[in-house]
Amino acid sequence: MSGGDKLDFEIRPNPQPVAAAERAALMANPGFGRVFTDHMVTIRYAEGKGWYDARVEARGPIPMDPATAVLHYAQEIFEGLKAYQAVDGGITMFRPDANAARFADSAQRMAMAPLPEQVFLDSLHHLIDIDRAWIPSGEGGSLYLRPFMFGSEVFLGVRPANEYLYVVIASPVESYFSSGVKPLTVWASPTYTRAAPGGTGAAKCGGNYASSLIAKAQAAENDCDDVIFLDAVERRYVDEMSGMNIFFVYDDGTLATPTLGTILPGITRESVLTLAREAGHQVVERQVGFDEWRADAASGRLREVFACGTAAVITPIGTVRHPGGEFAIAGGEPGSVTMGLRQTLVDIQRGRTEDTHGWVHRIA
Ligand code: COI
Repeated sequence: MSGGDKLDFEIRPNPQPVAAAERAALMANPGFGRVFTDHMVTIRYAEGKGWYDARVEARGPIPMDPATAVLHYAQEIFEGLKAYQAVDGGITMFRPDANAARFADSAQRMAMAPLPEQVFLDSLHHLIDIDRAWIPSGEGGSLYLRPFMFGSEVFLGVRPANEYLYVVIASPVESYFSSGVKPLTVWASPTYTRAAPGGTGAAKCGGNYASSLIAKAQAAENDCDDVIFLDAVERRYVDEMSGMNIFFVYDDGTLATPTLGTILPGITRESVLTLAREAGHQVVERQVGFDEWRADAASGRLREVFACGTAAVITPIGTVRHPGGEFAIAGGEPGSVTMGLRQTLVDIQRGRTEDTHGWVHRIA
């Protein structure tokens, strides 16, 4: 079948999968994004033909003509989500339907062919099913799924491509930050912004991450774990980090997070908004000024700050560094609201707490 909301996947098992002993050695200390499973999903699209050739096959290089459109104009989008070993021995995914919807939104912004959301979901189920031996069983481990799509037409003209390749790869991972859940030190970039109004900030496209790399390198030069971007218009308001949203927790129990628009509409961000409200916190989406952040940290009104995202889960931020100096939030220690929300989220993902939102998808 081709072009519809449902595709038949051809399953071609890898004839040379990694041996069990080698896989165990690789999974003993996978870090983040360094180890990959035996298979990948590929699906092709051509204008007038629709989506076709849906396959699960051995993971391997993708041959590319040097004139392939994505290599020149970066017409590319991606997603990130995780599969977990649940406490009852089953396998779960967290809110894959939200990733499917965001992938469709990103495709629309980048003038790419829309992949039916059901095909996106089916592709994840197929890959997890065939590579289930790669899902880490430990508490901190998960299988990170990376669906992505790019303009694969061989053409140098500047217009949306007529051909696309959708791919899913998977990687057993542990903590995103090498320091684990220890509070981060972040660099408030005085030089670079991430996205301007009308730009691609809300789309999960590779270009947003490419443009963040120099700021992230400056953060590292200043002994920081990540970067905080301020808004591109006034350079006053907190936007987001290199690949995470940000939350502020105040002494009256209120939480604040930057308003959507130029930032990524994070699925973890949205889950935290829900969980925090259910825990009795008042939560506001608003502009948070950098000067306000510094003043509230100094007065003690600001009690906790944390980063959140699929890869980072919920990670406390302890110290902010900027060209004029640095300041700490609550002595740089992790806060109880941050760690409580993290525990609630992880417990839902692992099936330890009842999922009252329909967020957890089971793999048969
Ligand atoms: C994620 O949290 O999944 C991300 O995509 C952030 C980063 C790894 C690029």
